[in-house]
Amino acid sequence: MRILVTGGAGFVGSHVALFFKREEPGSTVMALDNLKRRGSELALRRLASGGVEFRHGDVRNSEDLADIGSLDLLVECSAEPSSQAGLYGGERYLINTNLIGTINCLDHARRHDATVIFLSTSRVYPIAHLRALPLVPSETRFVVPAASTGPGWSARGITEEFPLPGSRSLYGATKLCSELIIAEYVEFHGLRAVINRCGVLAGPWQMGRIDQGFVGLWAARHLFGGALSYNGFGGTGLQVRDVLHVDDLYRLIREQVGQIEIHNGKIYNVGGGADCSVSLKELTEKCAERAGQRLAIVSRPETDPVDIPFYVTDNTAVAAATGWRPHLSVGHILDDVFGWLRDHRTEVEAILK
Ligand SMILES: NC(=O)c1ccc[n+]([C@@H]2O[C@H](COP(=O)([O-])OP(=O)(O)OC[C@H]3O[C@@H](n4cnc5c(N)ncnc54)[C@H](O)[C@@H]3O)[C@@H](O)[C@H]2O)c1
Repeated sequence: MRILVTGGAGFVGSHVALFFKREEPGSTVMALDNLKRRGSELALRRLASGGVEFRHGDVRNSEDLADIGSLDLLVECSAEPSSQAGLYGGERYLINTNLIGTINCLDHARRHDATVIFLSTSRVYPIAHLRALPLVPSETRFVVPAASTGPGWSARGITEEFPLPGSRSLYGATKLCSELIIAEYVEFHGLRAVINRCGVLAGPWQMGRIDQGFVGLWAARHLFGGALSYNGFGGTGLQVRDVLHVDDLYRLIREQVGQIEIHNGKIYNVGGGADCSVSLKELTEKCAERAGQRLAIVSRPETDPVDIPFYVTDNTAVAAATGWRPHLSVGHILDDVFGWLRDHRTEVEAILK
């Protein structure tokens, strides 16, 4: 097997590349990354010691992919992954990486008859529809009432049937455009590909920022100090996300690659699900317990144009198709993240503080 993970020095990409190499020691696993994300440079040592070949390259440049040569599997994890990207500049980088770069990856995979696993996002679903969910505030979080339901949503979360018309952030738009191109390549050009619309992913080595990777950021600030704020929706921290451990995501990717005839062309919503969801307010409590200290969290009631108050994945379709279910709880994810932060403080503190 020759496996390429694009964005392979990033949070998800580095885990996926190292897992594949560990489980298939005879395979050649390559991680291509331009090291744009601050902190991705720290992955180089981990990749090297795990036997993954690092290729410094850029998905925007098809020649960098051509240098990789033949492949059996391409896992597309490169991205500008922030939902705020392009709002205040940087649109060209976002579009050229997330859309044109993905097309370059698809073309390379087609040329070499390689299977593609594409990491899309829950952000393909329009902001206005998500904001229109009938959320009820409880003491610690927004809740979808148990009996209420609508097109593509229920108390279990958001399904693949959730309506797509509307705006979704430029980030979500680049991912949805990529999904459309993938569907064409699968239908008419013989590509084998699976699309996973992921909710929030978390785990060690995520270089959390305000606009992306909030679990890692929340944990790091509680441990190392620094400012945090509840932004938007009244500034009380009631907004909810489900969280999936990157190890659980890898198990799903393995399953999909192993049964590609079944999953080819499919689109799945993939996340921690309702049982593995958390509000910011609840996350604060869990982080304070683990850090042994409490931060004063500022309230900023104004809502950012692309923010959503609630996203929980309904995993029914992916579970039915694969038998896969997330195993790791929010508590387990936080224990892993805190363990990592403590063990690697000297490397990561300056980046995360
Ligand atoms: N982390 C999440 O919560 C989450 C949720 C949904 C979807 N996703 C998707 O999963 C994938 C991985 O996300 P992540 O959390 O690991 O992000 P990340 O930022 O940690 O990793 C992305 C990597 O891509 C690299 N990169 C950026 N532009 C590049 C380019 N032009 N050429 C080559 N490399 C480039 C970055 O340097 C970085 O190492 C992305 O496609 C993201 O959109 C992530």
